[in-house]
Amino acid sequence: MAKITIPAANLEYDCENDTIARAAVRHGLGFPYECNVGSCGNCRFELIEGEVEHRRANPPGLNERDIARKRFLGCQAQPKGDCTIKVSLRDNYKSKHLPRKTEAVLAGIDDLTHDIREFRFNLKQSNLFLPGQYALLSVPGVGGDRAYSMSNVTNLGDEWHFQIKRVPGGEATTSLFDKLKIGDSVGLDGPYGMAYLREDAPRDILCLAGGSGLSPMVSIARGAAASPALKGRSIEFVYGGRSPRDICGESILQLLDGYGERIHYHPAISMPEGAEGWTGHTGFVHDIAEMLFGEKLSQYEVYFAGPPLMSQAVMKMLIKARVPVGQLHFDQFY
Ligand SMILES: Cc1cc2nc3c(=O)[nH]c(=O)nc-3n(C[C@H](O)[C@H](O)[C@H](O)COP(=O)(O)OP(=O)(O)OC[C@H]3O[C@@H](n4cnc5c(N)ncnc54)[C@H](O)[C@@H]3O)c2cc1C
Ligand code: FES
Repeated sequence: MAKITIPAANLEYDCENDTIARAAVRHGLGFPYECNVGSCGNCRFELIEGEVEHRRANPPGLNERDIARKRFLGCQAQPKGDCTIKVSLRDNYKSKHLPRKTEAVLAGIDDLTHDIREFRFNLKQSNLFLPGQYALLSVPGVGGDRAYSMSNVTNLGDEWHFQIKRVPGGEATTSLFDKLKIGDSVGLDGPYGMAYLREDAPRDILCLAGGSGLSPMVSIARGAAASPALKGRSIEFVYGGRSPRDICGESILQLLDGYGERIHYHPAISMPEGAEGWTGHTGFVHDIAEMLFGEKLSQYEVYFAGPPLMSQAVMKMLIKARVPVGQLHFDQFY
C-alpha cells in the first residue's frame, strides 16, 4: 500500500492498486480531473518525491514540457511506493457519491439506432450516481478503461444503463457490440464527472447532444423531470445526427411526466440530402440551439455532450451568447 502526501494541503492518503487521482476522489478529496482516460490533462500533478508509472503509455494529456517538469497525470499515474506530490485540490471536484470499483453483469441490450445501443448492467455492489455522471468500464480483452455516461437515474444504485455509439474499428465498442453477451461481466468504476444535474439552479434546462452524447443528456432530462426542486422548469432537448437514421431519443423523453408541455424534443440533421419526408430541423446542434433560443440562451442552465467538434462549436456559440460559464456543464468526450 502506497501513501500519497500532499504537503501544501497537509494531508496524506492511501493508494492501493489505483491511480493517484482516483484514489484521492475515493477518499473524498477534490483532486482535479475531467476525462479520466489520460486525454485532457486536467489531472496533472508534480511529483516531488517517489516513483510512479502511467497505466496508459504516452497519454495525449501530457506534453514534452510537462515531462521535463516531472509532471504526471493523476488519472493514469500509479505509485510504485510512497510519493509526495504537488497539486491544488478544489472543493468542486469532491464527489457526492464516492466512486467504487465493482463487477457489472450485462442484463439487457436494446438497439436505439443503427449504431447506438443501450447496455443495461446489474452491479454486484450497488452505488449511487448523479444524473449526467459517467463510469469507467473495463471491457474484457481491451487495453485501458473507457468512460461511458449513464443514461438512467437511480435510487438504489443496483442498475446502471449506458447508451453507447459504435466507433468503427474501436477496440472497446467492437468488444461491447460484437462479443459481450447477456450474463457476461465487465469491471465498473464510478461514478465520476462534474457535468451533473444542478438541482439547486433555479433556471429552465437546455440539453444539447449529438451522437455519442445522448446518454448523459437523457439522464439529465430524466433527473430534471423527476426532481421536486425543478418542478415546473422547462426542459428543452436538442439532439443532432447526420441523417434521419441517426436520430433517436424522442420515445424515451415521451415517457417523462410533462412531455409536450414543459419537456420538448428538437431533432436536427446536418446532412439533409436524400432525407425526403424529414420534418425536424436541418443544421448543426449549436446553430439550431442559437436559432431556437437566441437571446434567451443566458436564462438557461445548459448541459451538453457529444463529439469534440460539436462540444467546441456549442461552447463557442454559448460564450458568444454571453451565457455565464457557471451555467455551462459538460465533460469533453475523447
Ligand atoms: C467523460 C466521457 C464520457 C463518455 N461517454 C460516452 C457515452 O456515454 N457514450 C459513448 O458512446 N461514448 C462515450 N465516451 C467515449 C468513449 O469513452 C470512447 O472513447 C468510445 O466509445 C471509443 O472507444 P473505442 O475503444 O471503441 O475506440 P478506440 O478508438 O479504440 O479508443 C478511443 C478512445 O479510447 C481511449 N483510450 C485508448 N487507449 C486507452 C488506454 N490504454 N487507456 C485509457 N483510455 C484509452 C482514448 O480516450 C481514445 O480516444 C465518453 C468519453 C468520455 C471521456
Ligand atoms: S487526463 Fe486525467 S482527467 Fe483527463
